[in-house]
Amino acid sequence: MKRNNLVLAANGTLMRGLELENNLKEVGAFFIKESKTEKAYRLYSINDKYPAMIRVDNGGNTVDVELYSISEEGVKQVLAKEPPGLTIKEITLIDGTSVLGVVGEDDIIKGQKEITSYGGWRNYIAKRENNMKKLFIYYSHTGRGDIVAQKMQEKGYDIRKVETVKSLPKSFFWGMMVGGFQAGAKKKAALKEFDQDISNYEEIVIGSPIWNGAFTPAINSVLSLLDLSNKKLSFVFYSGSGEGKKAVKCINKEYPNTPYIFLKDPKKYPEELNKLD
Ligand SMILES: Cc1cc2nc3c(=O)[nH]c(=O)nc-3n(C[C@H](O)[C@H](O)[C@H](O)COP(=O)(O)O)c2cc1C
Repeated sequence: MKRNNLVLAANGTLMRGLELENNLKEVGAFFIKESKTEKAYRLYSINDKYPAMIRVDNGGNTVDVELYSISEEGVKQVLAKEPPGLTIKEITLIDGTSVLGVVGEDDIIKGQKEITSYGGWRNYIAKRENNMKKLFIYYSHTGRGDIVAQKMQEKGYDIRKVETVKSLPKSFFWGMMVGGFQAGAKKKAALKEFDQDISNYEEIVIGSPIWNGAFTPAINSVLSLLDLSNKKLSFVFYSGSGEGKKAVKCINKEYPNTPYIFLKDPKKYPEELNKLD
């Protein structure tokens, strides 16, 4: 075992709970404490994926960092896995001590957004999430979805309800038969005018009842019409049982790593809506 004899200040995705924290864990580095740099740095968001900290002669500020105890070999391994344009150099903390820190190479910040005023990457990503424009797109046949939409609206989502040209047969039996068959066979439904412009939104939540364990045809149509690849996406399902096995299978296959939740009849059990908090 190599002894941890160095201190590394992380200011981005290496920090606890963020994307690259495992790179530190893998080399046996351990968290010491939170700190800040001296007032001589600026922070930039690189394509909104990770930050780059740069030292400046004038007009710098403090940047939040996390200090880790790490071995020399560990530093090398962590550096090898850092995103492009970052390196490790000596930096100065607010108490005047010198430690190793992750810093950006000069070229990488060209044309990138300065985020120094946020004080640190963690604060920036939290604020960014709060300011995201969010849209809830949903279908409802018997009104549960409207209850969910109301809650989503209270949470700051814009709402877009999808309607189909044809509705299910009025009879309960035939409604179940026709709807169940169509959903199980992954059919799409013709939609009444549906605004497909989602360019203003960064986050999209799709809401669907569960029919025969699966997405509804209306939502199958929505999913085929929209390009959701660059959006923060999640699903909310409402069903009599609070389950929908085919829907889960479909998400795992077609939208891997996309969060989803099930609400069990939110009309009968309004407390189910708390799952959306
Ligand atoms: C055609 C059809 C099929 C359904 N299949 C299921 C099912 O497989 N599992 C389930 O838990 N609920 C099922 N339900 C119940 C609905 O998922 C549930 O009532 C849902 O909350 C309705 O949402 P809505 O009121 O927004 O339309 C089905 C309902 C219909 C109309």
